[in-house]
Amino acid sequence: MLLFLQLLLFCLFTPGQGDFSPPRFNVSLDTPAAQRWEPVLRHYDAAEVQRIVRHVISSIVPKWVIPIIEQFEAQLGLILPQPYETEIQGICKALGLSLGDGLLINLAYEISDFCTSIVAQDSRGNIYHVRNLDFEFSDILRSLTVDLQFVKNGQIIYTGTTFIGFVGLWTGQSPNKFTISGNARVKGEWWKTLIAALLKRSPPPSWLIRDTLLEAADFQAALMKLANNPITANVYYILGGVKPNEGVIITRNLDGPVDIWPLIPMKGQWYRVETNYDHWTTPPPFDDRRTPAIRALNTTGQDNINLHTLFKVLSVKPVLNNSTVYTTLMCAAQPYDYRTLVRT
Ligand SMILES: *[C@@H]1O[C@H](CO)[C@@H](O)[C@H](O)[C@H]1NC(C)=O
Ligand SMILES: *[C@@H]1O[C@H](CO)[C@@H](O)[C@H](O)[C@H]1NC(C)=O
Ligand SMILES: *[C@@H]1O[C@H](CO)[C@@H](O)[C@H](O)[C@H]1NC(C)=O
Repeated sequence: MLLFLQLLLFCLFTPGQGDFSPPRFNVSLDTPAAQRWEPVLRHYDAAEVQRIVRHVISSIVPKWVIPIIEQFEAQLGLILPQPYETEIQGICKALGLSLGDGLLINLAYEISDFCTSIVAQDSRGNIYHVRNLDFEFSDILRSLTVDLQFVKNGQIIYTGTTFIGFVGLWTGQSPNKFTISGNARVKGEWWKTLIAALLKRSPPPSWLIRDTLLEAADFQAALMKLANNPITANVYYILGGVKPNEGVIITRNLDGPVDIWPLIPMKGQWYRVETNYDHWTTPPPFDDRRTPAIRALNTTGQDNINLHTLFKVLSVKPVLNNSTVYTTLMCAAQPYDYRTLVRT
């Protein structure tokens, strides 16, 4: 059976040599927040995860932040939104991490991802949404990548992709409703911004993705929530729906939308590409993933757009590059097609 599935995957997506599907686990929202990650974490070596977490923290968190977070970890616990704070406590306990490290890694991952996301509509009005997630520590994060199904009353309420230890989602799907991805929009002194926003009780952007997947009834409701809810960092949200025209890029600052950029298929604008630069500006020449992605979409053409051809678009260099950890393919109207490939 497994071999069959692997062959099928191979035929459908002709992944690069070494690409693989990450493990997929259920997380029960009926289980108390402090315990709900335990069944997933059981599959991992706690010492290895601890080692990776320390490495990432020491590489990306400024030295001056660490004592502040450690000193205020008790207070942070009181201001961080639930259920995430309790989930982080549970994860720290299960993996033998200090609460300070658990908080730091969850807050630090927020800022360090670079990505390419595409939402597109084919000629028949189907909406597809795909993303590459690029990260500085791609080598070590490949082994921590997981697809998760969040289950309530025996139903899959939403699906997402993340790294072990990290409670937020940068990629997710509410079946038959909408799909979301988030791309970093880094601006200025991010730790100061983050701490100030936390004090206002705003959630980090990847926690808002989870809230939206859980709560929003449809594409419109998801758009309102992602555009307007205060958050702790600037970000791009890419949202795809189930009906024609339901695709949009939301450019966010901490308090609300800077720009909303929908698909306009009637005018030939049948795709939107977002990397890590405002769409109305020109990407810097040393990191232009946007133009190659657009060129590949133009060459493919709207008639030929599907998850298979979009996977190829995301596999064009430098859209796919050494720091790409995973590619996720989504179509909210066909929720069983949700698929992640870890890229090597
Ligand atoms: C790979 O992508 C990252 C961001 O996603 C970018 O910073 C880097 O310049 C790219 N590398 C190459 C070789 O294009
Ligand atoms: C995950 O939950 C779904 C929905 O309840 C269920 O159908 C599936 O068998 C579960 N998978 C595992 C591995 O437990
Ligand atoms: C892609 O196609 C659009 C619409 O035809 C065109 O305006 C744009 O210049 C093309 N871009 C690239 C990079 O091929």
